[in-house]
Amino acid sequence: MSAQNTRVLPYGPEAIAEAARLIGEGQIVAVPTETVYGLAADATNGEAVARIYEAKGRPSFNPLIVHVKDIGQARGIGRMEDAAEALARRYWPGPLTLVLPLLDGAPVAALVTAGLPTIALRMPAHPAMRDLLEAVGRPLAAPSANASGAISPTRADHVLSSLSGRIPLILDGGPTEHGLESTIVALTGGAPRLLRPGPIDLGLAPSGSGAIEAPGQLERHYAPARPLRLNALEAQVDEWLIGFGAVPGDSTLSASGDLIEAAAKLFEMLHEAGRQDRPRIAVAPIPDQGIGAAINDRLSRAAAPGR
Ligand code: TXA
Ligand code: MG
Repeated sequence: MSAQNTRVLPYGPEAIAEAARLIGEGQIVAVPTETVYGLAADATNGEAVARIYEAKGRPSFNPLIVHVKDIGQARGIGRMEDAAEALARRYWPGPLTLVLPLLDGAPVAALVTAGLPTIALRMPAHPAMRDLLEAVGRPLAAPSANASGAISPTRADHVLSSLSGRIPLILDGGPTEHGLESTIVALTGGAPRLLRPGPIDLGLAPSGSGAIEAPGQLERHYAPARPLRLNALEAQVDEWLIGFGAVPGDSTLSASGDLIEAAAKLFEMLHEAGRQDRPRIAVAPIPDQGIGAAINDRLSRAAAPGR
């Protein structure tokens, strides 16, 4: 990734218009929410979402929260049953994230959920994020706007010190109100489960051992059910080969060897491979640099025996 000039604009109509323009181009922008600053991208655009992971320098793919402008937009993405409707009506807009079953054909790139059949949704209260959602007209994926391993930013200068040179724009809306990430509740069947405590206390006990922070719990879901061979230069008879660059394959993550494109397509290609008649999957070598490290992390977990 080439270094870029990071501008900081005070929140206002011009800054929102510029942020919406960049997001419409598939770029990523740091925006204040009432919890922490988020790093926002068009959730329908896989390559834009890949740029989030690249900018954060995240060595693996974690599912991201998708921000919606209203309950109607949420209903078009996740399955909102009575409990979800009730929580959304009571706490939205606000610092509550609902993990819901992902609707078939929902307009969200597979990389957003890291291939999971569930999706985290929240309608934010901060006027900057709400204006941006309105201006873009699409749901926005946004994790906290910090480099991987750093703490969540509650002021524009925290974002700048963490991500300067890696993103084009920071909207400065001053310090955030809560300074703590949203409460996350899973409504994916059975009783509601608290996945992350936060500003809204629903009186639920934390489920398991911090659930979402323990990536192992999620990994079980997104490993393909089939054997996966890495660093393959050609397919064996019973294999579906996912290519990259000079290795063509039955499908390809990126014919031109572009790692952003490869990250954006990874989960779709794994799902597609899992639907083929050939019982095994092979994947071409992926360079271990930049976001390639996150791709390789995901692939090596998916290839680990015992799955
Ligand atoms: O307050 C917030 O929630 C902030 C602002 C920007 O909205 N966002 C935020 O995002 O904290 P992030 O990506 O740093 O944290 C999202 C958490 C991760 O721990 C992730 O594992 C979990 O949400 N998550 C996302 N989708 C999930 C899913 N389908 N199932 C379980 N956990 C999920
Ligand atoms: Mg975070």
